Amino acid sequence: MPCGSDGMSRQWIARHPGGLDVFELVDVDVRPPGAGEVSVRVRAAGMNPADAKHIREGRVPDDFPRPVGYEVSGVVTALGPDTELASGGGAVGDEVLAFRVRGGWADELTLPARDVFAKPPSLSFEQAATLLLAATTAAEMLHVTGARRGETALVHAASGAVGVMLLQLAAHRGIRVIGTASPARFDVVRRYGGEPVAHGAALEARVRDLAPAGVDVALDGVGTEEALAVSLAVVHDPDRMVSIVASAAQADAGGYRRIGGAMPESKAYRDSVREGLVALAGEGRLEVTVAATYPLEEALVAAEALEGKHPGGKLVLLP
Ligand SMILES: NC(=O)c1ccc[n+]([C@@H]2O[C@H](COP(=O)([O-])OP(=O)(O)OC[C@H]3O[C@@H](n4cnc5c(N)ncnc54)[C@H](OP(=O)(O)O)[C@@H]3O)[C@@H](O)[C@H]2O)c1
Repeated sequence: MPCGSDGMSRQWIARHPGGLDVFELVDVDVRPPGAGEVSVRVRAAGMNPADAKHIREGRVPDDFPRPVGYEVSGVVTALGPDTELASGGGAVGDEVLAFRVRGGWADELTLPARDVFAKPPSLSFEQAATLLLAATTAAEMLHVTGARRGETALVHAASGAVGVMLLQLAAHRGIRVIGTASPARFDVVRRYGGEPVAHGAALEARVRDLAPAGVDVALDGVGTEEALAVSLAVVHDPDRMVSIVASAAQADAGGYRRIGGAMPESKAYRDSVREGLVALAGEGRLEVTVAATYPLEEALVAAEALEGKHPGGKLVLLP
């Protein structure tokens, strides 16, 4: 058996597109790893808005039934022949994190070794399981807009998971950030070096108070009409604005960029920066705040919490 168990795992799947009511916890076989694959006993599964959103939208109907969850941490239980982890080496018992994963809301899974990295000892399993989706997204937002030292960025949803990663990566690069948030969460923006402004009516005036000449880059993580319109109004060049939430039609109409993990260029870029981001987190230079953990079987309670009032950090499932 590859998995130190009976080769079975519980896994959350969605048989067809829909809301949380289409999610099901089922028993599945854990394949023994082939060449280039690794089996991992999941210790923590990270939760992201995309988990439920992609099932709800069901943009690729042929992709169902579809296992849920994009990132995990855990312990290697088996490696395929002549197989190394993405970070090199690898042995049974190694503590690892993995992204991008298909079906991470599970007890165990077999996945490509190229997506598995040694877990820095300084990160808990919970932190490691929620690092890379948000961090790689933030890194790509800075990359596609060409944000540079000494420039000013407007970040929408700065207190969210992607926003907090943007704040930290921008601070390392000497980029000034004006970040929109609820007043109750201004402390999060300040903690990572940003200047908070409340979203809501008259947002543009509040941004202009801080940046009278406008901003060099606009990074949207919320997709509201307000965030998109204010970004377009204050950024010097719409080509240096990106949204991770706006639709293709909205981005085309506004002449700004839109990126998503399923787009080939985004995937290639994000995959290329994973190892560096893991190292940065291991050095304590990229913090991940875990707000709450839930047993794997309570994933739907956790998913409802994620869609409700912001939990103030990442939510994690524990098999
Ligand atoms: N395209 C991609 O590749 C990609 C990748 C990752 C995430 N995403 C998407 O990006 C979005 C953010 O993801 P996340 O993981 O950072 O989510 P998150 O942790 O849930 O954060 C969402 C944030 O939105 C803020 N917010 C709520 N209403 C707002 C408003 N009217 N104006 C401005 N901010 C508002 C909240 O801040 P306050 O509580 O302070 O208001 C909250 O911190 C989600 O829609 C997610 O699906 C896309």
